[in-house]
Amino acid sequence: MSNYHIKHLEEYYQVYRKSVANPELFWEEIAEEHFMWRRKWDKILSWDFSKPSIKWFEGAQLNITENCIDRHLLARGNKTAILFEPNDPKEKAQHITYNELHKKVCKFANVLKNKGIVKGDRVCIYLPMIPELAIAVLACARIGAIHSVVFAGFSSTALASRINDSECKMVITSDGSYRGTKTIDLKGIVDEALKECSCVKTVLVVKRINSNIIMEEGRDYLLQPELDQAPTICKAEIMNAEDALFILYTSGSTGQPKGMVHTTAGYLVYTAYTFKNVFQYREEDVYWCTADIGWITGHSYIVYGPLANGATTVMFEGVPSYPNFGRFWDIVEKHKVTQFYTAPTAIRALAKEGLTHLEKYDLSSLKVLGTVGEPINEEAWHWYDDNVGKKKAPIVDTWWQTETGGIMITPIPYATPTKPTYATLPFPGVQPALINENGEEIKENQVDGRLCIKFPWPSMARTIWGNHQRYKDTYFSAFENKYFTGDGALRDEVGYYRITGRVDDVIIVSGHNLGTAPIEDAINEHPAVAESAIVGFPHDIKGNALYGYVTLKEAGEGRNHDNLRKEINQIITEQIGPIAKLDKIQFTSGLPKTRSGKIMRRILRKIAHKDTSNLGDISTLLNPEVVNDIMNNTV
Ligand code: WTA
Repeated sequence: MSNYHIKHLEEYYQVYRKSVANPELFWEEIAEEHFMWRRKWDKILSWDFSKPSIKWFEGAQLNITENCIDRHLLARGNKTAILFEPNDPKEKAQHITYNELHKKVCKFANVLKNKGIVKGDRVCIYLPMIPELAIAVLACARIGAIHSVVFAGFSSTALASRINDSECKMVITSDGSYRGTKTIDLKGIVDEALKECSCVKTVLVVKRINSNIIMEEGRDYLLQPELDQAPTICKAEIMNAEDALFILYTSGSTGQPKGMVHTTAGYLVYTAYTFKNVFQYREEDVYWCTADIGWITGHSYIVYGPLANGATTVMFEGVPSYPNFGRFWDIVEKHKVTQFYTAPTAIRALAKEGLTHLEKYDLSSLKVLGTVGEPINEEAWHWYDDNVGKKKAPIVDTWWQTETGGIMITPIPYATPTKPTYATLPFPGVQPALINENGEEIKENQVDGRLCIKFPWPSMARTIWGNHQRYKDTYFSAFENKYFTGDGALRDEVGYYRITGRVDDVIIVSGHNLGTAPIEDAINEHPAVAESAIVGFPHDIKGNALYGYVTLKEAGEGRNHDNLRKEINQIITEQIGPIAKLDKIQFTSGLPKTRSGKIMRRILRKIAHKDTSNLGDISTLLNPEVVNDIMNNTV
């Protein structure tokens, strides 16, 4: 029996049991048989969650791009690796073969080298969903530079703080990007950000929209002329298993975003193995994940996981609504997509449009449907199952995180019976635990608790860039000897998991994680604002939307509230990005606080949810009178 490709439920249970009984042996067999190593490991795993220190495949050497590109050249050099579908449906799709990808990555890597980038340097990538984004990522990996992709919807302030946090030497960007009918001036945003970043010595600019841009001499270079001069061969840098591969920032409940650090060997093994099984990938398939490479889903399941399996991976530049809401289905039909992986928020937005667009297209190529990023509600699940998969393509509701690197709880399609809203069973090698209020593990079924993982898996983030203490505090301090996910979950009578949502101050809006603290900090910068608190409230399409309670200073009294609302959202857009804008803003005379001065978000959350029947004991508050005031003036 092959542990690598699970096809039946019995096989899943067997493989799973083995992965728990002897994790080292289990991962060793997978690593041994399916990857290209320059040197084998001395030790499969050493770990200590109390430090925390986690090492997989210590002593091994490899380069991830040799695994994702070079090793496919003999068997499938002329197969499409990246299938690029542009924003404008009239622009031709591009098929980049493995041979071509190899050349492009080598050339790009040589440009990086020419500009002085060496192993271990950090390179920030701020690009739209064009092939150069995937190529830039792989070019960094080719030479051992650590890529830090920043989603190209973040503002210049957010970009600058990420560049500075990891002291990037270079930024790779484009003149601009297309989004439906709009264009966005990415180079302008980078220029603005770089006023604050003295660490950046070089900017490489991809031309995409042919706009007029300002090039700073000695710092900014157009990519194309550099590529034209670069050799097509670039020897892969041989990396140690635990060398950093990339940094990816994610929001925390407090303060600065966290630069999660992923390392090379474990990440490769885990993303490749999960990709193969969770999508039941087969050689002739055309796989499409609609995420942006600016998020972990794009890193693991547009770039590394698919390419490690020699797959054809679709990259889509545009948006689901352009030129109309049939665009996704048009792409599925046109490229005969076999696996389609998207977010619940996109499903809800498409479902709202009815079936007229969808019915025009032939979706019969679809074999597996995936969802990720937030809990999927039952209605959206059924709509997806009935209308997109026509009940023939199983839905894989995949639960995981930036921190976990790969999919952790998921059905295996055609093996695990699905159940709406349930991510179902742990992937082999993953050992979840539910923890009760007293911090104890609950062993029985039909319970809910805080979701932890009690044993290491190969693709877990190893640290937070520059702040190991925060890594320990955030993930390994809540419960002894366990990784704490920040999510709540319930387990049904057969052991299926359903993720119920965040139990901390992270709010997931349209699948994007947003920490409340950075948004509040942004709002508080408005000269008329005294203080603010953000909570989430249910939203039909976005899953959650943001509700802000804002108290004004004297200076703000008498000012027009609608104007203030616009100004507040403008500041948020500038400091973080449009994704963090508030849907509702209520001006209040005060915020409910405990006697020690802590804002009682629980009460604010209930009010925003319009669930005020049981607010709990408010008599211990410092200022109980504001609660009535807030309840009577909701927006
Ligand atoms: C949430 C995305 C329910 C969860 C890969 C997690 C989910 C956070 C699911 C991580 C799912 C992700 N069902 N909730 N299938 N997948 N989440 O870091 O709260 O962007 O902690 O990684 O998204 O978001 P991140």
